[in-house]
Formats: sequence, C-alpha cells, structure tokens
Amino acid sequence: MKPSAGKALLIDGKAASAAVLERVAGEAAGLKVKPGLAVVLAGEDPASQVYVKSKGKAAHSCGFHSVQHDLPATTSEAELIRLVQALNADPAIHGILVQLPLPAGIDSTKVLETIAPEKDVDGFHPVNVGLLATGMIERAMVPCTPAGAMLLIEEAARALGREISGAEAVIVGRSNIVGKPMAQLLLSKNATVTIAHSRTRDLPAVARRADILVAAVGRPEMIRGDWIKPGALVIDVGINRVPGAEPGKTRLVGDVALEEALAVAGAITPVPGGVGPMTIAMLMANTLRAAKLAAARFACAAVASPGSVE
Ligand code: GUN
Repeated sequence: MKPSAGKALLIDGKAASAAVLERVAGEAAGLKVKPGLAVVLAGEDPASQVYVKSKGKAAHSCGFHSVQHDLPATTSEAELIRLVQALNADPAIHGILVQLPLPAGIDSTKVLETIAPEKDVDGFHPVNVGLLATGMIERAMVPCTPAGAMLLIEEAARALGREISGAEAVIVGRSNIVGKPMAQLLLSKNATVTIAHSRTRDLPAVARRADILVAAVGRPEMIRGDWIKPGALVIDVGINRVPGAEPGKTRLVGDVALEEALAVAGAITPVPGGVGPMTIAMLMANTLRAAKLAAARFACAAVASPGSVE
C-alpha cells in the first residue's frame, strides 16, 4: 500500500493479486495433479468474452489445465445442464465456472445448482452459500470478489494498525454475489455489520458510521466524500463504464467518488486497480483449493478400499 496524492493510502489490488497468483502457481507446481478449470461461455456478450479470456489467461499462467466451452446464444437450458453434468463427472476438471449473464430464456439458478458444490469455484451454489452463512468458511467455496475484497481489507487494516474485530462495517449493496457474502466474511472477523441498500433511510448517515465501508451498488461515483467517516477504510467494488473526456471515449469509475474520498478516507481501493484484479486471483485460489480437496478425497478413498481407485 502506498501513500496517495491526498490523505488516504491507495490499496494496490494489482500487487495483491500478483502475490496471490504467484503463491497459487507455486503451490500448483508442487501438486501431482494439474488443477483443472472449465469456463463456460454461452452467447456473445462482449464484456463476458473479455472476462472469460482473462480467466483463461490467468489459469494458464498458474500452470492449470484450462478449458473454455463457447456455446451459441441459442443453446438450450437442457444442453447447458448436460455440459455441466459432463464437467462434474470429468476427473481432470476441479473447478467449473459458468459465466453470467446467461442468454435470455435460461434459468441461471437451475444451471448453477447443477454444478457439483465441490467444483463450484464461484461459490454461488446454495450448499456453499449455506456453509458461508453458517460460519463454516473452512468448508465453503467463497465467492471470488468478496474473498478478494476481504484480503485487501485485512492488508489495509494491518497497514493502518486497525482491528477488524469490533469495527463498524457498512456494506452498500445487498447482492448475492458481493453484498451478502461480504457481510458474512466481515461478520466472521467479528465486525459489526450493516447491509445498506436502495431503501435504506438516510444512506449517507449510515455510511458515515463505517470504519470499513464497502461500496457494491453499481452506480458510478454514488458515494461522495461527505458520506465517509474521516480515516475510514473504503473498499470500492463498483466497475462502471462512463463517457470519457473525449467524444466516443469511455473510462472506468467505481461506486465511490475517488478524488473526494482520497481527501477523507484512511485507505481506499482505486478503480481500476483495486478489487477488480483480485477477483480472478481468488478464482485461481479457489480452483487450486478444489484440486487439493479432490486429491485428498481420492487418497481417502484409496485408503478406505484399496484397489477400488485407479
Ligand atoms: N459475470 C460477472 N462476474 C461474474 C462472476 O464472478 N462469475 C460468473 N460466473 N459470472 C460473472
């Protein structure tokens, strides 16, 4: 973490992500089996194509067995479910990610629930959601974005000499992918957690209570400087594309007005370069973990009934 132009420390998600990827690649190299990640892309959503390409690249850089299944937008729900079932049964695949959003007409809940929980490296299956919600984090696959945000919170808290335990944490946004699992992770570290959302009364006042403020609403620069408690740790999960300075150009901004926040916060994740790079790194960490757990199950089965496993 380095001092920024304003008062706040800028939390460097690129460096943190590179450190996670280096550790994952090192551990993967020491395994007997190559961790295998299958990414399924249905349709031609341009943003999804970019994300999926980055996931494949990261998997290769970690030395994983990486496969991508590109399906046309006309793929039926039944076909997609059959592919997931085949990947569930494939011993070379330890992690399965079905890129969202899925084409219209496909029930994404049904598809995600077909993924074997132990291969659910997105952490979206109800079994993993339940394990996280009941505090059994050691057994859960934790969704990648909140898991990455949590690593950055721990790193920033260390740098600022702060405790997460007992801190007031406010999460703005109640999505299943970020807001809710983020709340569970902060709760597991004994923070006092509030989830705020579009119906929250006096949202700026609630946000100002936060020692740790997590913005995950998907509204460009919604959180202003005067919503932030002086010295707070601010985690901006938003990635919003807005018109740029020149006609026809765009730029990325977060859910927090960065320049204003820099003058008030104790530490903040920038956009781009904050939480974003952590998501893919945590996907690789989850895939490595899935591969290790599969190897341990295989070893247990071999001990329990020698000769039954090849
Ligand atoms: N689409 C945008 N983000 C994600 C993600 O984290 N996982 C999946 N499966 N799809 C996404």
